[in-house]
Amino acid sequence: MLVELRIRRYNPEQDKKAWWGEYTLDDVNPNESVLDVLHRVKWTIDGTLTLRRSCAHGVCGSDAMRINGANALACKVLVSRLAKENSESVQVQVEPILGLPVVKDLVVNMEPFFDHYRSVKPYFVNDDPLPENGRERLQTQEDRIKFDDTTKCILCAACTTSCPSFWANGRYVGPAAIINAHRFIFDSRDEAYEERLEILGQPYGVWRCRTIFNCTSACPRDIQVTKAIADVKHALSTGQV
Ligand code: SF4
Ligand code: F3S
Ligand code: FES
Repeated sequence: MLVELRIRRYNPEQDKKAWWGEYTLDDVNPNESVLDVLHRVKWTIDGTLTLRRSCAHGVCGSDAMRINGANALACKVLVSRLAKENSESVQVQVEPILGLPVVKDLVVNMEPFFDHYRSVKPYFVNDDPLPENGRERLQTQEDRIKFDDTTKCILCAACTTSCPSFWANGRYVGPAAIINAHRFIFDSRDEAYEERLEILGQPYGVWRCRTIFNCTSACPRDIQVTKAIADVKHALSTGQV
């Protein structure tokens, strides 16, 4: 398969502004991923191409990028899925995710994203002594299911950086932080839900979400992101979790 690849390039040490690098690869197996073809460019054409990746299996969340205009993990998108039916060639355009400062080529500075994540206390809070006769704080299956979906987040940032509300104002905490707050707000064993709801009720919290749904489409873990945000809005409105 012929792949015509356009990659947004930017090296702050030598470029005044970003530019498009164009690369043609003519022997790509349709089962290769976008990450595979980026590796081909880096390893055989231009070693200065800079990208972030680790597991190559959709687990670590490090290679979120904008592929043909939509956020995705490069390792999870096969080039054949981007081609028209029965076509032997495909055009693939790759850019860094939007709304975060570009460090170099496809690598962005994730610190503003992780600042928002940290701001919602994304960890278990319970200072009560452990139950006398057991080592675990038990809960029912019904209680567990309330936050099951949001435990799947891998912090890839594909949701937050596809959100127009976040593009408009980077102070918006963003869907990923809300998802990770949801995971603990709705955990019956956790005791800090009121604090988290207070944080998310602030002007740059959950009400900045305008229910645009880009986040749900972008999530590589198929988390129902917009629904989880609605759960948090409902909890804030009613005081009930
Ligand atoms: Fe990535 Fe989905 Fe988590 Fe957002 S909710 S950071 S898209 S895994
Ligand atoms: Fe943004 Fe998702 Fe809300 S795209 S506006 S966080 S539904
Ligand atoms: Fe780990 Fe793609 S490289 S998710």
